[in-house]
Amino acid sequence: MMPDGNTSVPSREPGVKGRDAVVPAGRGQWLAVCRLDDLPVQGSRVVRRFGQDDVAVFRTHDDRVFAVLDRCPHKGGPLSEGLVHGMSVTCPLHGWVIDLETGQARAPDEGCARRVPVRVDDDGWVYLAGSGSAIDGNAE
Ligand code: FES
Repeated sequence: MMPDGNTSVPSREPGVKGRDAVVPAGRGQWLAVCRLDDLPVQGSRVVRRFGQDDVAVFRTHDDRVFAVLDRCPHKGGPLSEGLVHGMSVTCPLHGWVIDLETGQARAPDEGCARRVPVRVDDDGWVYLAGSGSAIDGNAE
């Protein structure tokens, strides 16, 4: 995955490993949260941030990584517990399908999950942008 335009140099500090990671909120920096291998294929992992909404980090079948706030745009369901298929996740509560690339709900549903910039470095570490860099799924 390519960087999203943020020119900050990723931190080399390793993040917390395990099912859920806890990382400090930061602005304008990249936070190492796990290694790519820590993410299940066609699965996800929750990153908890101090004073911020949780982030769901997803890995697709072809090792692409996406991150969105762990709140469904419908009624706040935990997207991290949804079924990953292709480039989408199906919310476990009422079945909305969310496009992981855009955050948009698939029609006829309307809504957008808030995306968080994520990158995978050549050494296999997954980085999330600091809290100040969260972007809306409608922004391009
Ligand atoms: S809360 Fe996700 S589909 Fe309803």
